[in-house]
Amino acid sequence: MKATARAHANIALIKYWGKRDRKLNLPAAGSISITLEALSTVTRVEFLQGLKKDRFILNGESTPVTQTERVTRFLDLIREQSGTGLCAQVTSKNNFPTGAGLASSASAFAGLALAGSRAAGLALSFPQLSELARKGSGSAARSVFGGFVEMQAGVRKDGTDAIARQIAPETYWDLRVLIAITSDTPKKTGSTEGMLHTEKTSPYFREWVRSSVSDLKEMQKAISIKDLSKLGELSEYNCLKMHALMLSARPGLIYWNENTLALIHLVRELRNTGTEAYFTIDAGPQVKVLCEPENVPAVKNALENSRQVLRIIETGLGGGAVLVKDTAL
Ligand code: PMV
Repeated sequence: MKATARAHANIALIKYWGKRDRKLNLPAAGSISITLEALSTVTRVEFLQGLKKDRFILNGESTPVTQTERVTRFLDLIREQSGTGLCAQVTSKNNFPTGAGLASSASAFAGLALAGSRAAGLALSFPQLSELARKGSGSAARSVFGGFVEMQAGVRKDGTDAIARQIAPETYWDLRVLIAITSDTPKKTGSTEGMLHTEKTSPYFREWVRSSVSDLKEMQKAISIKDLSKLGELSEYNCLKMHALMLSARPGLIYWNENTLALIHLVRELRNTGTEAYFTIDAGPQVKVLCEPENVPAVKNALENSRQVLRIIETGLGGGAVLVKDTAL
């Protein structure tokens, strides 16, 4: 009753912000992401006789009760499906610096879905794994797959159609992402809380959901013809639209710091001077810069010379969740 899996983080080009159902964690709109090779989580799940409650060790340390409870709620779903009544020992390790403000819930729950279901004796298909991972974290449904991935909002009440699918594999188009870390301070408002607050108080929320339909179509097209200018322009537009939505909540949610804004200008200046690069930003202050391989040196140089940047993580596109040997941990 033991399995180990690796899954990668992802970054959305068309963002997910808002839920149509909180209990099943169903998104209000679809989203499109790329899976990132350099950011991964390895997770081992072992269901054990005689264990009275689940145990969760992250990066070699026991985790706070709230984190273990979130893992237990997720394992309960697996226990329900598989019929096992056993508690589990979960050991997980991120290969990227913790406290860097990078979302780890996507790689965490995608890996936990695969390792946990296998350890419990279930042989779930990738769409089923995506549905399960979504219940842990919305973006985790996308991390089950590699490359370019689309999450569907779905229409069914039970959420069986709110799953991700791969648009194109990681080998399809060699895109690079340079992640500029601008702060190590953990964010104050988590994504679930932030989404709920935005849905409840922003006058723009309905329009955000409505307008996502054409953003998704345009992004699918840009990917299908490998049009970087279109993909980049649309990523910036959708990212700024999400942050405008967050700002329009009451009180407004501000995830940026002053460095974030300076880097937005830096990326646009790079473009004005002939280096094709585009930014996207999630619910935090880090700036992710997209470009093709030939522009990596120029982008890296500009970021390295900027006093706004603490560190840079460089990555290409990565694959989907896979089972790995126990020794990978
Ligand atoms: O999956 P969650 O609940 O961590 O939400 C992710 C939200 C964003 O990162 C801001 C956008 C996205 O689509 O990943």
